[in-house]
Amino acid sequence: MAYEHITVKPLAGAIGAEIFGVDLSQDVAPDTLEEIKKAFLDNLVIVFRDQNLTPDTQKAFSRNFGSSHINDFFPTVEGHPDVQLVAKNPEDTRNVGDAWHTDVSYVAKPPLGSMLYALEVPEAGGDTMFSSTYYAYETLSDGMKSLLEPLNAVHSATKSFGVNATGPEMRTKNKAMAFKYSEDAEQIAVHPVVRTHPETGRKGLYVNSSFTKHFEGMTAEESAPLLKFLYDHMARPEMTCRVRWEKGTLTFWDNRCAHHYALNDYQGQRRVMHRVTVLDDLREVRTEAAA
Ligand code: SIN
Repeated sequence: MAYEHITVKPLAGAIGAEIFGVDLSQDVAPDTLEEIKKAFLDNLVIVFRDQNLTPDTQKAFSRNFGSSHINDFFPTVEGHPDVQLVAKNPEDTRNVGDAWHTDVSYVAKPPLGSMLYALEVPEAGGDTMFSSTYYAYETLSDGMKSLLEPLNAVHSATKSFGVNATGPEMRTKNKAMAFKYSEDAEQIAVHPVVRTHPETGRKGLYVNSSFTKHFEGMTAEESAPLLKFLYDHMARPEMTCRVRWEKGTLTFWDNRCAHHYALNDYQGQRRVMHRVTVLDDLREVRTEAAA
C-alpha cells in the first residue's frame, strides 16, 4: 500500500520513521488512520513533529489503537490517572527508563504500545533509542533460535519498582520520578522468550533487563549469562534508531516488538513528557466482533 495521506520518512534501516502531514489534535480521518496504522506496524516506532496536544487530545488519538493503561507506579498528570508524567528536573541525577526495556512486561497481557509527548526538552541530549526485537531474533543462528524457542521467562514489577529494586533505573529515588516503591509491587507474568507479534505474525525476542528475572524453571544465576548475551545482542547499533526530541514531538512505539532506552545525558536541565500507554484491547474486540 502506497501512502497517499501521510509522508513516511524512515529514521534508520531496521526501525523508526517520521510521519508528516497529520495534525493529531484533530480527529484523524479513517483513511489517514489506516495509513498511520500501517506505518506503525511496518516501522515499529513512529514520530510526529510539531504537534500541539493536551492530555485529552493525546488520549483521543491513542484510543484509535486501544484504551489506556493505568500504571501502578508512575506519577500521573492531575485529573488524568491514565497519563503518566515522565519528568526529570535540573536537580535530579537519574531519569526514567535508562535501561533497555519494554513497558509493563510484568502483566499477563502487556500493552500494545506507548505514546510519549514532549512538553519540555533539554537544549541537547535526552534522546530516546529504540531497538527492533524482530531484527534481534532474525539475526540469531538457527541453533540459538531452537534453544530459545521452547523457553519462557518470568517478568516481575518488583525488579524495578520494589523497595529492594535491583533494576538499574530504580536504585535512586529521584523526586521527579516519584515512583510508588512498594514491597507489594509484585506483579508477575510469564511470557515466551520468542513471542509472535499478534498483528504482523513476525517473531521477536521478549526479554528485557528492567523486568525479566529469569527463565522459567531456572534460577536467576543460571539465566543470567544467556540473558546478558540477548541484551547485548538486542542493543547492537544496526538494530536501533535514535529519536531526537523537540517540543511538540509525539513518538508512538510498539511494545510488542521494540525496546527503548532513554538517555540520561542532560544533567542540570529539565525534560518533561506525558506518556499514554495503550492496551492491546481494541484489536481483540475487533477480532471477536468479526468472529
Ligand atoms: C520510558 O521508558 O517510557 C521513558 C522513555 C523516555 O523518557 O524517553
